[in-house]
Amino acid sequence: MFGTFDSPDQRNLLDRTGQGIIGKGLDRPEAGLKVTGRATYAAEYRPENCADGVLVTATVAQGKILQIESEKIEALPGVLGIFTDKLMLRRPAQGTAGRAPAQDPRQIEYHGQPLALVVAETFEQAMHAAKALCITYERHHDVPYDPETAPSEPAEKPIILGDLDEAMANAAHKVDATYETAGHASAAMEPHASIASWQGDDLTIWGSFQMISHNVKELADALRIAPKRVRILSPYVGGGFGSKLGISHDAVAAALAAKALGRPVRVVLTRQQVFTTIMRRSETRQRLRLAADGDGRLTGLGHEAWVSNLPQESFAEPVTQATQFLYGGENRKLCVNIARISRLTAGSVRAPGEAVGMQALEAAMDELAERAGLDPIELRKRNLPSSEPGKDRPYSSRMLAEALDQGAAAFGWHERQPKPCMTREGEWWIGLGVASAARVNMLMPAAARVRLEPDGSLLVQSDQTDIGTGSYAILGQIAGEMLGVPIERVRVELGDSELPSGAGSGGSFGASSTGSAVFRACEAIRDRLAHRLGARSDRLDLRNGIASSGERSAPVAELLRGYALEEIGRIKPGKTQIDYAQASYGAFFCEVAVNAFTAETRIRRLLGVFGFGRVLNQKTARSQCLGGMVWGIGSALSEELSFDLRDGRLMNHDLEQYHLPVHADIPDLDVILLEERDTAASPLQAKGVGELGICGTAGAIANAVYNACGVRAYSFPITPDRLI
Ligand code: MOS
Repeated sequence: MFGTFDSPDQRNLLDRTGQGIIGKGLDRPEAGLKVTGRATYAAEYRPENCADGVLVTATVAQGKILQIESEKIEALPGVLGIFTDKLMLRRPAQGTAGRAPAQDPRQIEYHGQPLALVVAETFEQAMHAAKALCITYERHHDVPYDPETAPSEPAEKPIILGDLDEAMANAAHKVDATYETAGHASAAMEPHASIASWQGDDLTIWGSFQMISHNVKELADALRIAPKRVRILSPYVGGGFGSKLGISHDAVAAALAAKALGRPVRVVLTRQQVFTTIMRRSETRQRLRLAADGDGRLTGLGHEAWVSNLPQESFAEPVTQATQFLYGGENRKLCVNIARISRLTAGSVRAPGEAVGMQALEAAMDELAERAGLDPIELRKRNLPSSEPGKDRPYSSRMLAEALDQGAAAFGWHERQPKPCMTREGEWWIGLGVASAARVNMLMPAAARVRLEPDGSLLVQSDQTDIGTGSYAILGQIAGEMLGVPIERVRVELGDSELPSGAGSGGSFGASSTGSAVFRACEAIRDRLAHRLGARSDRLDLRNGIASSGERSAPVAELLRGYALEEIGRIKPGKTQIDYAQASYGAFFCEVAVNAFTAETRIRRLLGVFGFGRVLNQKTARSQCLGGMVWGIGSALSEELSFDLRDGRLMNHDLEQYHLPVHADIPDLDVILLEERDTAASPLQAKGVGELGICGTAGAIANAVYNACGVRAYSFPITPDRLI
């Protein structure tokens, strides 16, 4: 039975177990394997007799396949087959290939769409044949390429409260500004890859996925087979950032080819294919309207966004997600409009919604602070509502004001000049900026198995993935803490669909959701141990192999009587997710230098202060924050998918042309993690942190740029040409 989480958990059990394991910045147990290259990633499995497949993608954006000249290619050395199966070619929708709309397989909807798989004995032979494959097309241009001029429609029902126009008309201070953010690529280090191997009707896939139990269903659905026939193994994942939430073409193509050829097939996407076929974050246009009274209190808040996706795709970047709950302002208009264009699928890329929404909102807040003559921190603090606007539900916990204050003290915010162009060092204008961080918190259904072995060691199992985030470390820490077992004696097995279904890695919910399942399994084991001891489980103390409670105590080994104790813990979101507005919060402080002649922006310092409930592992949480902040720097200064507006072709489809920040772009980053418990978020009292570091960062950077040189950036990334 799934235990829903319906009321806040005040017991604070993890604060009473006293092992000092939970929260500690422990290394990842798999770290050694990863840094020495011994952790096996998807493409590295080599089942016997494995053939290699290479995808061939469309070189036109819209139209129909007239002919695929297979014969010449089939005669090339080593070639085993060319597959154009219509199941394989179905478009993965927001990474959900199984539920994609029915399509004519000969129909081409975007430049880069996979059209065929060429399989050969070796990778080189397959690549050669794939390049030589000639496909002729009938070209159309029915769907527009430019989101700017394409018609749009509301993606969802707008949120309208009061009268925003009137609030704007009567405002003492106001901002009406339109921002643009560029499309982004997830650019995970490990490219998408699948190795498919059939044993009769049973399929095994070694792949790179974020949400295994979901991915099993997608794959089964795409292949028209029962989910129990599919096993997915994904023990190590080299980053996902949303791009591996769903399966992609490699998995379906490898499975179909392997079935047809009667031998394992491996399909690894090239870096360029990852860019052109997997998923993009939509570019956005965002109109922000802020109306405030003479004290800088918001009376009106408008956030209207325009995003894009392919026709029929259901996903729309939820740009206004944090705007709904973050600040006050009783007159509101929040909406997301979507344009249907011919570009690869738009989907979830790290912190979908907040990543770009907070970027614009926080830039607009800076502008309002200036107009209202208030310090930007003071403006934000004045506008923190006591309950969620429009829903009137309380916040589960919110350390935003604390993050702003502590960050200000740590960063030396008082040294900021209130007006721009006041600090110059040689060629460089220097400026400071601040922004709030916010990202919704979610709890997802999850299960995990914990086994206390007769020798007192622990085994924790779930199909939860570790996409570089620390799942192996954190889940082991929770179990060790709960059952008084030193971390060296805790083994964690993940990433196998035969294990109980974890929440998967997405939406910052993996650690708190699957961690809560581990917590509940441990609670059940504690109950059984307490029962055997003849004690109340809330009084049970487990340490150094001894179970005790008041006068009673016994070695755990004795209570186990030579057998393991095994429990499956389950969690499911319940009333607490409805009764409380739940989000993780923080603040960013940034110092930039802007070159007076070239308009180049350099980050000098960047501090993030975050409150997200209980910190499960200081080191991995901090790493997530740092990684998010690096993403924020990319979003602010360099990352931009560039499409050819004549045919929707992605022009910068590799890591040379798509400018991720490199080491030289990143100064010493600093992170402060606040001490917090959120009893309504999860039994662990922890919220999500995986995406928080990107939610607002670019706003702080833009605000620092303005403070340095007096130019407001309305178009991101803030490349020199946009600043000059
Ligand atoms: Mo995330 S974009 O939900 O992996």
